[in-house]
Amino acid sequence: MKCVSIKGIKEFEIKDIPEPAIDGKNVIIDVKKCGICGSDIHYWDMGQPVGLVMGHEYSGVVVDTGDRKDLQVGDRVTALPISPCGTCDACVTGNPQYCSKTWLNATGLSLTNPGALASKMAIRSDMVIKIPDKVSFEEAAMVEPTAVGLHAVRLANIKVGAKVLVVGGGIIGLTSAMFAKKEGASFVVVSETNDLRGRKAVSLNVADEWVNAKAEDALKKMIEKTEGGFDVVIECCGNSKAVSSALTMVKEGGTVILVGVATKPIEVPTMLAVMRELTVQGAIAYTREEFETCIDLIANKQIDVMKFVDKIVTLDKVQQSYEKLTSGNSEAVKILVDPTI
Ligand SMILES: NC(=O)c1ccc[n+]([C@@H]2O[C@H](COP(=O)([O-])OP(=O)(O)OC[C@H]3O[C@@H](n4cnc5c(N)ncnc54)[C@H](O)[C@@H]3O)[C@@H](O)[C@H]2O)c1
Ligand SMILES: [Zn+2]
Ligand SMILES: [Zn+2]
Repeated sequence: MKCVSIKGIKEFEIKDIPEPAIDGKNVIIDVKKCGICGSDIHYWDMGQPVGLVMGHEYSGVVVDTGDRKDLQVGDRVTALPISPCGTCDACVTGNPQYCSKTWLNATGLSLTNPGALASKMAIRSDMVIKIPDKVSFEEAAMVEPTAVGLHAVRLANIKVGAKVLVVGGGIIGLTSAMFAKKEGASFVVVSETNDLRGRKAVSLNVADEWVNAKAEDALKKMIEKTEGGFDVVIECCGNSKAVSSALTMVKEGGTVILVGVATKPIEVPTMLAVMRELTVQGAIAYTREEFETCIDLIANKQIDVMKFVDKIVTLDKVQQSYEKLTSGNSEAVKILVDPTI
């Protein structure tokens, strides 16, 4: 079958790989939609590991039920891409997202478990979740990044009336901003280096305002406007400038949630956190309950995730789509891939 795999730095190749084998354990699905994620971009940037088939935000139809007695061929599903051990402290307390094993064999993020940039994939059966008929395949592929936003916002403990800044207006920033508003934040701002994405955060109605992260004076004005800074800042970029601005823009005693992934150590002014007694909290992925909550919210039309989808492309347009998403001057935020066309 056809798949897209990493060939080198910023380079994919389309190649043929064997279809996943039926083993009576894993569930095999025909992939219908797969999202391109900001985390995937880090792997593509590094060109490592060569041969990785990405795609961890997916939906599809069951073609083999593996060891799941409650599933049938033809069921419409999505799945958590993680691979928790199930027995460690993190797993037994309902936090598989930080189990030390969870990312080692994650689907679409490890060589052992190829992802959804292919026509078929095998998924660890206990991670598979059926989707209601009223949730489309496109919406189901959006559950994963949406759940990242929900988890970050839950960890932030946003109070009704709070002022919240989201640094970075990619899909993770936009879903975080959306949930911050739902939690009752009275003023939600997105800061961006890309004007088009900044404006988009406002036009999609997830932010009240956006601020140009490249303009020092605009950031200063925002601190004045919020009378000393934001109650909560959710950092969704992972670079030194972005994390530094998160620590600067939060008020004394406030909370900074770090969602952005820095693949190398970065320089950060920790003095700002020490002297102002900030709470700095990391956020990784989601719990199973949060993943399922996002499916329910979509099914019940309480959130609209399709407004974030810019385009649906074929496997041979994946390379081009990555280039577009990283150009810094495109307003596209989420591109879905359809391996069936
Ligand atoms: N912790 C988690 O569970 C988790 C899950 C998914 C993604 N991530 C990470 O979160 C980050 C965001 O993901 P995404 O898919 O939205 O990525 P993305 O690359 O689409 O979005 C990042 C945005 O940040 C903007 N940006 C860069 N520097 C900035 C700065 N100094 N100030 C303001 N904006 C700036 C960019 O213009 C871009 O629009 C990535 O690092 C990704 O790896 C973390
Ligand atoms: Zn993702
Ligand atoms: Zn575990």
